[in-house]
Amino acid sequence: MKASDLRNKYLEFFKQKGHKIIPSFCLIPENDPTTLFISAGMQPLIPYLLGESHSEGKRLVDAQKCLRTDDIDEVGDEIHHTFFEMLGNWSLGDYFKTQAIEWSFEFLTSEKWLNIPKARLAVSVFAGDGDAPFDQESFDKWIDLGISKQRIAKLPKKNNWWGPAGKTGPCGPDTEMFYWAKDDTPPAEFDPDNSNWVEIWNDVFMQYYKEEDGSFKVLEQKNVDTGMGLERTLAVLNGFSDDYQTELFLPIIERLEEQTGKKYADNQKEFRVIVDHIKAACFLIKDGVVPSNKLQGYILRRLLRRAAIKLNSLKESSMDILPKLIDPVLDIYSDTAYFKVGDWDNIRTVIEEELNKFQRTLNQGLREINKYTSIDGKTAFNLYQTYGFPIELTLEIAKEKRQQVNLKEFEEEQEKHRRQSQTSSAGMFKGGLVDHSNQTTKLHTASHILQAALKQVLGSFVGQRGSHITAWRLRFDFNFPQKLTDKEINQVENLVNQKIAEDLTVHFDIEERDRAITEGATTNYGENYPEKVKVYKIGSEGKYFSKELCGGPHVEHTGVLKSFKIIKQESVSAGIRRIYAVVE
Ligand code: ALA
Repeated sequence: MKASDLRNKYLEFFKQKGHKIIPSFCLIPENDPTTLFISAGMQPLIPYLLGESHSEGKRLVDAQKCLRTDDIDEVGDEIHHTFFEMLGNWSLGDYFKTQAIEWSFEFLTSEKWLNIPKARLAVSVFAGDGDAPFDQESFDKWIDLGISKQRIAKLPKKNNWWGPAGKTGPCGPDTEMFYWAKDDTPPAEFDPDNSNWVEIWNDVFMQYYKEEDGSFKVLEQKNVDTGMGLERTLAVLNGFSDDYQTELFLPIIERLEEQTGKKYADNQKEFRVIVDHIKAACFLIKDGVVPSNKLQGYILRRLLRRAAIKLNSLKESSMDILPKLIDPVLDIYSDTAYFKVGDWDNIRTVIEEELNKFQRTLNQGLREINKYTSIDGKTAFNLYQTYGFPIELTLEIAKEKRQQVNLKEFEEEQEKHRRQSQTSSAGMFKGGLVDHSNQTTKLHTASHILQAALKQVLGSFVGQRGSHITAWRLRFDFNFPQKLTDKEINQVENLVNQKIAEDLTVHFDIEERDRAITEGATTNYGENYPEKVKVYKIGSEGKYFSKELCGGPHVEHTGVLKSFKIIKQESVSAGIRRIYAVVE
């Protein structure tokens, strides 16, 4: 089976069951400060899972670009990759457990769809605990569909509970589907610890909201959220235990073999890291990330530097091969909407610039290493942190120079740092649209007024190039060639404040995407929209101050924002400016 078959079949199947196909959201969450990247299909849909209406109705299906960086260090084995696609279908307060399970079963086993023999399937359901009862309904439904009792595992929260993505948010019990991936007769009994049973799909029944105090509140709107990892499922359905053997990775591997003269079979770990990282980097750059020392930019930098180092370890001084791997990445996705003709140039420029910078750092790092006769843990960790030298590289260089490296100390330093960064990233799981906090909703509306004001003051060519909202401030990126003068800043600020003082109404209409755009509604650069969209309008009919395609939520009257202040402006990159602003 080909990747496009699996992707298209999934979308088509659910379309036939009344779902609307929506495009993948950008990899960077727009108004959700709780995470750096979209790491599950449900994440950008959280406002709708919590009750906000969606322009396409209550049944949605998509293939969502995802990036998981928690186990970046695990990349190198058969099944870990940072970037992946998640196929998912949603019921926003529409159908629930039994219907979801019935459709999952039909899609997996029907001849017309995946045609998986029932004998190769097993499932797990939530066993129940103090927070929520045993999921009898799911259990009964699977029995009803002909799955034998021995093939249904009842498992605790650790296995059969999903979410919330942050500290608080929607969550609930789930039922997972497993495929016997070995080429023999599967055992009658399902053993979840046997790795030949590969999880391919997860149906989550979001009926709870986890509160700040750890308690679970029953949600008024009961949702279904499902997720099937495209790469893993494609691999097992094609009889591969190694995801990298699928057509979603193989062309990059082949190009790498060609360029280095090395074989994948002899260098699997290095190949997988390079291939995974270059692919993830292409997607991140496409979605507007540039290498930096902060947040998403730091992850991109790490991915590129790690790939470069692995290339050098495969073949001396070969990191300039990296840009040559962009082509096969874009080819793999040529039948999707992820990349457009013309993206190649920008992706290549960003990667080449970063490699140049890295080459300089690498030279400095090497000079640093040369100063020592033995390398203590702190120095080794500093080389890793400051110069991006993975410990393997330090060890290798040290070996050549007959230097000692204190590995134990290095690991202690790394552990110390890991604990610190966990604490600081745990701090990110607060506020945000995820909890519909009032302040972030206000800032979201402010970003629409700000965009309209910028267009009016600076010119209608000005448009959003990114936005990020936390509970206390709004960050807004837009195209403009130079620093705004004090006068321009004042004009923008005054105009926004005037619209707040006018206490304009904010409402949305659901409209056909193309028509809304033709009629002048603002879109976000580079974003794909479904056929039907919500157009948020500020002001009154005939003289709207702002009309913008957006999922919401927003405040109902601009007056609640009270006052708006720009606190800082800076440059992001050539031609892109950034404004930070707050509302009272
Ligand atoms: N949100 C669920 C998952 O990511 C479907 O597995």
